[in-house]
Amino acid sequence: MQTKPLLLLGLALVGLGACSPFTSPQAGRSLYAQNCVACHGTDARGGAQMPDLTLIAARAGGVYPQTRVLDKLDGYARGQTAYDGVEMPNFGDLLTGRLDRVDLPGGRSRLLPEKIIALEAYLRSIQRPAP
Ligand code: HEC
Repeated sequence: MQTKPLLLLGLALVGLGACSPFTSPQAGRSLYAQNCVACHGTDARGGAQMPDLTLIAARAGGVYPQTRVLDKLDGYARGQTAYDGVEMPNFGDLLTGRLDRVDLPGGRSRLLPEKIIALEAYLRSIQRPAP
């Protein structure tokens, strides 16, 4: 039977995907510094009319809404979470570049630009409990 080597290869590829330097929280951190600090702040804690991005999970009742954050970043959820009528711009240039697969809760996955995956991984890494 040839299934075992194939299975091992598959697992190795999944492992590589998870470790990509292009989709890591560190990569997301520098993308954040380039694109997001102007509004959400260097510490991501927001300000007047700008949501605190370290409290996304806390605002969602303690369960980090990964799919919703990905939707927001890739533009699907544009304007859906407007705070006081202020909207976040759509980051079209983040949509360029290589695609990678991101694992979602429930065993699903989605193909998205690496930069969006990295930004989401960074945001997930900086969540804190409700103050
Ligand atoms: C011009 C200001 C501005 C910039 C730049 C900006 N944002 Fe936002 N962002 C907002 C505003 C205003 C909101 C709230 C309204 C909305 O959701 O559209 C928001 C909402 C969000 C949300 C949803 C928060 C929630 O609780 O659901 C996420 C996630 C987010 N921004 C991430 C980012 C990331 C990552 C970047 C950089 C790529 C970025 N933002 C750049 C203004 C900005």
